[in-house]
Amino acid sequence: MTEKRENWGSRFGFLMAAAGSAVGLGNIWRFPYLTGMNGGAAFIFIYLGCVALIGLCIMTAEFAVGRRSGLAAVGAYKKVSDKWTFAGALGVLSGFFIMGFYPVVGGWAMAYIAKSFTGLLAAPEAIGDAFGAFITAPVEPLVWMVIYLVINVLIVAKGIQSGIEAAGKVMMPMLYVILAAIIFRTASLPGASEGFKFLFTPDFSKVTGQTFLAALGQAFFSLSLGMGCMITYGSYLNKEEKLPQNALIVTTMDTSVALLAAVAIFPALASFGVEPTAGPGLVFVVVPQIFAQMGGVVGPIFSALFFLLLFIAALTSSVSLLEVVVAYLIDQHRMERKKAVYITSAIMAVMCVLSSLSMGVMSGVQIFGVGFFDFFDILTDKIFLAIGGGLLAICVGFFMKKEDLKDELTNGGTISFPAFELWYNLTKYVIPVVIAWIAFAGITAIAQKGLMIFGVLVIVVLAVFSKKL
Ligand code: TRP
Repeated sequence: MTEKRENWGSRFGFLMAAAGSAVGLGNIWRFPYLTGMNGGAAFIFIYLGCVALIGLCIMTAEFAVGRRSGLAAVGAYKKVSDKWTFAGALGVLSGFFIMGFYPVVGGWAMAYIAKSFTGLLAAPEAIGDAFGAFITAPVEPLVWMVIYLVINVLIVAKGIQSGIEAAGKVMMPMLYVILAAIIFRTASLPGASEGFKFLFTPDFSKVTGQTFLAALGQAFFSLSLGMGCMITYGSYLNKEEKLPQNALIVTTMDTSVALLAAVAIFPALASFGVEPTAGPGLVFVVVPQIFAQMGGVVGPIFSALFFLLLFIAALTSSVSLLEVVVAYLIDQHRMERKKAVYITSAIMAVMCVLSSLSMGVMSGVQIFGVGFFDFFDILTDKIFLAIGGGLLAICVGFFMKKEDLKDELTNGGTISFPAFELWYNLTKYVIPVVIAWIAFAGITAIAQKGLMIFGVLVIVVLAVFSKKL
C-alpha cells in the first residue's frame, strides 16, 4: 500500500469518463430498437421510471462504496466482509464476459465508418444482405475487432488521468456535437413528425410484464451498473466531490443520449417509411438505408458520422469494462498496470474471436442452445448485472453502517443530501425486492433455461471459492 493510487485529475474529467462509460452501444444501438419493439412512448416512460427509481439509487450507492473503500470492485466488497468478496468477483467476471462480445460490435461500428464511403450506400436494397455477409465472414470482422481492442489497450495502459480521463474529455463532447448534427439533419426531413408522434404518444395497451423486464435490464446495462464499474470509477474520486450530484449528472447525461439517439432515428424511419420494429439490425441496416436515400455526398458523410458516433460511444464504455478487471488485478494482486492490461485483453481477444465466429463459421457450436456471442450477452445482461445490482443493494442496506453511508454521501456532514432517507430506504428495501422479481420473472420467461441455471451455479461457485481472490 505504499504506492499512491491514481485519482481523477478534475471533476469535468471524471464526469466525462463516467458518462463515457454509461453512454455506449446500450444507448445508440440497443435503446432505439428496444423502443421500436416495445411500442414506443410507453416503453420510454417505463424506462425513465426505472432509471429514476433504481438506476439513480444504485449509481449513488456504487459511487459511495467505491470512494469509501478507495478500491475497485473486489477490494471494496472485501472491506465490508470476506463473505462479500464473491459479489465483487461476479462483477469482474461480468466485465470479462461483456468484453467477450462488446468489441465485436465496436469493430462493426468501425468497419461501417469505412464502408459508408466504399459503396455500401450505392445499393440501398442490398444493405441488409451486406450486413449479414459482413458479420458472418471469418476474417474481416476479426480484423476490425482486433483494431478496436488494441485502441482500448492503448488507452487503459496509460492509466486513469492520461488514458481514460483524457479520452473521455475529448470524445464525449465530440459525441454530443455529432449527435446534434445528425438530429438536425433527420428532424428536418419531410414526414419526420410521424416519428416524433411514435416516440412521444404512449400506447399503454402494448405494455406487458416483459416490457418492464426489458426496461429494467436496459437501465442497468445502459447506466453501467451491477458489476462494480461505477465502484471502480468512484474509487478514483477525491473526497471533495459531491456523490449524489455526480450520480444525477451522469444518469441525466446517459438518459439524454438514449433519448436523443431515438430522436435522431425515429423521425427518419417515419420519413422513409421504414418499420421501427427492425430489431438488433436497426442501426446497421436501417441507418445506412436512411442515409443512402439522402443521396449525394451528404449521405455517406452522415452515415460515417453516425458510425463514428457509435464507435466513440462504444470505446469510452469498453475502456471502463477493461478497467474494472485491470483495477482488480492492480488492487488485489499488486500487478503492474501494463501487464494487467495485456493479460486481460489477450483473454478478451480470444473470447471475442469465438463470439465473432459464432455469427458464421462457428454457428454450429452451441453452449446451452446459443452461440458464444449470445452466451456472453445473455449471461451478463439477463442474469449477472441484475443479480450484481441486487447484491450491492443488499450489501449496502444490511451490511454497511447507515452512519458511514451518510458520512460518505454528505462528505463528512459538510454538504447536505436531503434525499438521504429516501435513497437509503429505496436501496435497502424496495430495490432488492424489485430485482428479485425481475430475476424470477426473467428465469421463468426466458427460453434459455439451461443457461440461466448455469449462470446461477457460477455465482454459487464464486461464493464458495471467493476467499482466494
Ligand atoms: N453502459 C454501456 C453501454 O450502454 C456498457 C457498459 C460499460 C456496461 N460498462 C458497463 C454495462 C458496466 C454494464 C456494466 O453500452
